[in-house]
Amino acid sequence: MQETIHRGLVGVVADTTEISFIDGDQGELSYRGYDISELTEASYEEVVYLLWNGELPNAAELSAFRDELAPLGALPFEIVDRLRCARPDTEPMHLMRTAVSNLACHDPNPDEVDAENVRRIGHRLLVQFPTIVSTIERLRHGLEPVDPDPELSIAGNFLYTLTGERPTEAATHVMDVALVLHAEHGSNASTFTARTAASSLTDVYSAVTAGVGSLKGPLHGGANEAVMRALEEIGSVENAEPYVMETLAKPHGRVMGFGHRVYRVLDPRAAILARVAQKLARESGESKYWEMSLEIARVMEREMAKRQRAVAPNVDFFSASVYRMLGFPIDMYTPIFAVARISGWMAHLYEQYADNRLVRPLLAYEGPKGKKFKPVSSR
Ligand code: SDX
Repeated sequence: MQETIHRGLVGVVADTTEISFIDGDQGELSYRGYDISELTEASYEEVVYLLWNGELPNAAELSAFRDELAPLGALPFEIVDRLRCARPDTEPMHLMRTAVSNLACHDPNPDEVDAENVRRIGHRLLVQFPTIVSTIERLRHGLEPVDPDPELSIAGNFLYTLTGERPTEAATHVMDVALVLHAEHGSNASTFTARTAASSLTDVYSAVTAGVGSLKGPLHGGANEAVMRALEEIGSVENAEPYVMETLAKPHGRVMGFGHRVYRVLDPRAAILARVAQKLARESGESKYWEMSLEIARVMEREMAKRQRAVAPNVDFFSASVYRMLGFPIDMYTPIFAVARISGWMAHLYEQYADNRLVRPLLAYEGPKGKKFKPVSSR
């Protein structure tokens, strides 16, 4: 019987979930029933609580959650020392993946996957991820790491441990919005990778390390860095159209930050980030990247309509301009994506471990059969 092959698992529904819903035709995303456009008013902690517990916290629940997280953000000194020894030009996502994997060696109970232990590890990783990123960034510039301030939120602490200065409310709000928008997105490549790893009942650190590895790829979380490098290569609004046309003329040419396996229309997160980018551009007076982004989007809309392709800006297209205007170095964009997505990965690991089935698809064999072995002397 000729099997139907679903390369890239396009259109394959692998399991059920209660965490988030994506309507690719309408361009809608919701977390636990709340539309993403409404959740950008919430702090990242409130949204993590929602993703992990199924409902937004009340004031007492939020305060207790924050109190639980506050003491967990510091890194073991051995890991800081290993990061200190890294070559300063090491790609931060390699350091991030290494640090996450290393955390297992400093956990009193890294391997048990019962609900209580998985949540305990999830709480630690949630606040250690931003510390890892800020520690990498400071050490590679010869600066000592800054310990998190238990009084600050995750978004605020991330900015504080990066710069050593307490962030403004406005900067903290933009960081909260970016973290909320990047927190969760169903069975994307890195989440599916983490769930697949967890399905063998391996430990959380192994599953999350696998997710970090998948997120790094330019077709996935690495796209935001690729968008910024493209904007720098383009250099001016006038060069945007020639760049897009040259890219599309290449076999399998891809303009980074566009297209999506699920969205057939504009990614709702891109619409929100576009407004953030426009506001930051207006406030900073640095509108170059914003205007270039608009021109690229205009040309892509025209060219994709001609080609009858459902290709629109995705979350990575405008996040690049937002991070640039927040002053982050380009090779920190994907680590920041990981700082947000650890919450989505953990929500899915809770689901996977709670009702597990080993993930093991088939491959249709197309190789030779029935060959007879000959000893090497007669080959
Ligand atoms: C993220 O899955 C998620 O939810 C991921 C994510 C999340 O929150 O976790 O949303 C985050 O990863 C967003 C995507 C970031 N990646 C990029 O911006 C990289 C550029 N995009 C493409 O590589 C592509 O659109 C993918 C990888 C995102 C989706 O790939 P698919 O579903 O395999 O689609 P495809 O590559 O087969 O493209 C379908 C058609 C093609 O036509 P043909 O050439 O085959 O006739 O659409 C065209 C493509 O030409 N197309 C593009 C394009 N993306 C698709 N044409 C030009 N530029 C592009 N970026």
